[in-house]
Amino acid sequence: MKYGHFSKDGREFIVTHPNTPKPWFNYLFNDIYHCLISQTGGGFSYLRDPKYYRLHRWDHLSSDRPGRYLYIKDASAKKHSVWTLNWQPSREKLDAWECRHSFGCTTISASNNGIKGSITYFVAKQAPAEIWLVSLTNATRAKKTLQVYPFVELIAGDVALETHYRNILCLYNDAVFDKEHQAIIAFKQPFKSWHKPGYAFFASSLKVESYECRREAFVGRYGELDNPDGVQAKKLAGSGCRGEDMVAVLQSTVTLQPGETKQFVVVSGITENKNEIPSLVKRFRSVDLAKKELSEIKAYWKRHLEQVWIETPDPKMNLMVNLWGKYQLYAITHWRGTSHYHGAEGGQGYRDTCQDVEGLLSSDLEAARAKLERLIFYQYESGHAVSGFSEVEGTWENQGVAGVIKKADVAVWLPYSVVAYVKETGDTEFLKKVIPFHDKGEATVYEHILRSVRYIYSARGQHGLPLIGHADWNDAYDHVGNKGKGESIWLGMALVRACKHVKELAEFLGDTAVAHEMQEKSDELTAIINEVGWDGSWYLAAFNDDGRRIGSQENKEGKVPLNSQTWAILSGVVPPDRLQRLLDKIDHYLDTPYGPALFLPSYTTFNPGIGRVSSFAPGTKENAAVFSHACAFKVVADCTIKRADQAYDTFSKLLPISEAKQDHEKYKVEPYVWAEYVVGPGSADRFGEGSFTWNTGTTPWMYVAATEWILGARRDFQGLLIDPCIPKTWKEAKIRRPFRGAIYEITIKNPGGVSSGVARLSVDGVEQRGNLIQPHGDGKTHRVEVVLGKAGSNHSSHRAKRRMGKKSISTLS
Ligand code: GLC
Repeated sequence: MKYGHFSKDGREFIVTHPNTPKPWFNYLFNDIYHCLISQTGGGFSYLRDPKYYRLHRWDHLSSDRPGRYLYIKDASAKKHSVWTLNWQPSREKLDAWECRHSFGCTTISASNNGIKGSITYFVAKQAPAEIWLVSLTNATRAKKTLQVYPFVELIAGDVALETHYRNILCLYNDAVFDKEHQAIIAFKQPFKSWHKPGYAFFASSLKVESYECRREAFVGRYGELDNPDGVQAKKLAGSGCRGEDMVAVLQSTVTLQPGETKQFVVVSGITENKNEIPSLVKRFRSVDLAKKELSEIKAYWKRHLEQVWIETPDPKMNLMVNLWGKYQLYAITHWRGTSHYHGAEGGQGYRDTCQDVEGLLSSDLEAARAKLERLIFYQYESGHAVSGFSEVEGTWENQGVAGVIKKADVAVWLPYSVVAYVKETGDTEFLKKVIPFHDKGEATVYEHILRSVRYIYSARGQHGLPLIGHADWNDAYDHVGNKGKGESIWLGMALVRACKHVKELAEFLGDTAVAHEMQEKSDELTAIINEVGWDGSWYLAAFNDDGRRIGSQENKEGKVPLNSQTWAILSGVVPPDRLQRLLDKIDHYLDTPYGPALFLPSYTTFNPGIGRVSSFAPGTKENAAVFSHACAFKVVADCTIKRADQAYDTFSKLLPISEAKQDHEKYKVEPYVWAEYVVGPGSADRFGEGSFTWNTGTTPWMYVAATEWILGARRDFQGLLIDPCIPKTWKEAKIRRPFRGAIYEITIKNPGGVSSGVARLSVDGVEQRGNLIQPHGDGKTHRVEVVLGKAGSNHSSHRAKRRMGKKSISTLS
């Protein structure tokens, strides 16, 4: 890889060249504060909502400026006397430079003119603050007297308004240097009755000799950040700011004897409570306290990331599942709804968060449960649910054309998460918990999920399929049903899957009436889908308002919609005699070196009966990109029908470090996190380019695909089911997984070179029948050995057993 590599232990990604083809980001965060930081310190931070309490200005991916810079002025140097450790914004060549992204921190190190420096950026464990731990060393033989200037550019408010009305918004700006606390404090004067200001702060552990809050005074008239007037001058002008663009810059002197190292700290953040600033600053304005905080953060991540652990013959897969993909899962679960690709949006998406819950269940149950309860509360009495929610700005439904639902599928994701929660915990009491609906009334959790199913079932169109409204999973099918008639085949399948999950739950609870209802609904829908949704060799995507078939062989573009094929498998609607035809299409028509495309060919021009999917450049986003989220569905679908080699093939292609993504001039984006998509074959020159990293539903699905399906340590009502689906070439693989109060260390042996089927299974050396481990709940670690092969005749399927009802079964036989 040209621009960087992983450290030996995989826990750091070392960017070796600052000019990566796109900014390569890390996400640093706690429960209330999020810092998105690129390899040069670019990006932005915010409190609680990415739109509302935005701390920094950040222009765009293409410039990755401004950022959190440390300017250094060395008056004795003959050239490059002004530079930054960051490389940005001047982008001049430094003697050395590297950036290490890791879990909970990012360190940029550089040297120039005999000065070596590093900044470690991290976010406090609990406070709305980020800390820069800076170290400077004089590697020359002469004494050095340096001027240092930590710098940020501030918004301190609503980024969407700032983007639209910058010249007005700046009139509310108010920044001062608070002498008593030696900190710049900046905010926007309230300008709407509901406006609650966010107070930005910026302080240093060094003695502050001067400061600047006015951007124009700092950069100079028509000036730029790469060589600001303020740094050229002997001293910063020392101006507060009222009614202009704001920056926060502090000037201090650092004197270094030959060989000497000095450290200092910069503390910054944004809070709703101005009175909290002095204590926040005090808490971290010490090198020792900052170091202590950092070591606790590192320990936190070590602890959290090592809960679930896999060891397979594929080091790349191990790296993503154990470390980077899992860290990404935590990051997006906290901060769904934003990324450095999403300019001015706030809040979190409902269905995305439902999927995150399923991902988090095995590694952070408490966080998953908290999310789940909120999602349940965000459901309407009708059974539908909000499209998204923000901690600061409440919820929204995105009503488009009057009376037409925007995202028709939101509610379908809730039953999956609730059922997964019960399978993970065995906690059926949770189903009795009464939680209010978002609009009116309240109901038990069980009733909530029944309403989800019944609501979507009730909102169907002329073919008997669920109405698509303004979109289903595919946000960009947004003209398919905006007259209120279009129907989604995919949503029909998703509903069948929900019915089946709820039916299994009802059987487990002994609720025969609901089990029966769910069976009837799923049978009815399955019949309809197979009758009207089958297009000869594959399933359609949708019928639009005019009854036109979307995704059909009769269309020139947009054929073979991947999700309708994979969900035909996930929902079990596809009859055996159709399965092979559909698989052939996925494997031989849609597949690419990066995974299967969302459909093919891409749309080339706007189609008013389909929507903006057809307006995206061919091959990008929902217009037939290799959309990783959909590819992850495919991996799980393959595992459900035991196509282990095909599942692993797609899993491997999706890896950000896959064979086909080694050329970063082509792939461009971070090689250590899942990307939302790779540009598809519809774009001749950009095919293979990655995009929209970090915030993607791929993250929970790939994690679940690896742990629950490929390694096959899968939650189930009565215990932990061991049902691996590994490539035939793997001789052995391991997974450690906590489950209901015990830890299972599972070794899968594959002497016969098969890919699935459990021939033998022992727990703590004692052979047991069947492949379901009864929960021990004793806080201990249990060793499980699994030998793959043909299941013995005394192994009945866990499903047959489950049908026998409640917890009456102690072992499988
Ligand atoms: C984005 C959205 C997700 C949606 C998908 C396809 O990933 O976050 O909710 O399903 O795009 O449109």
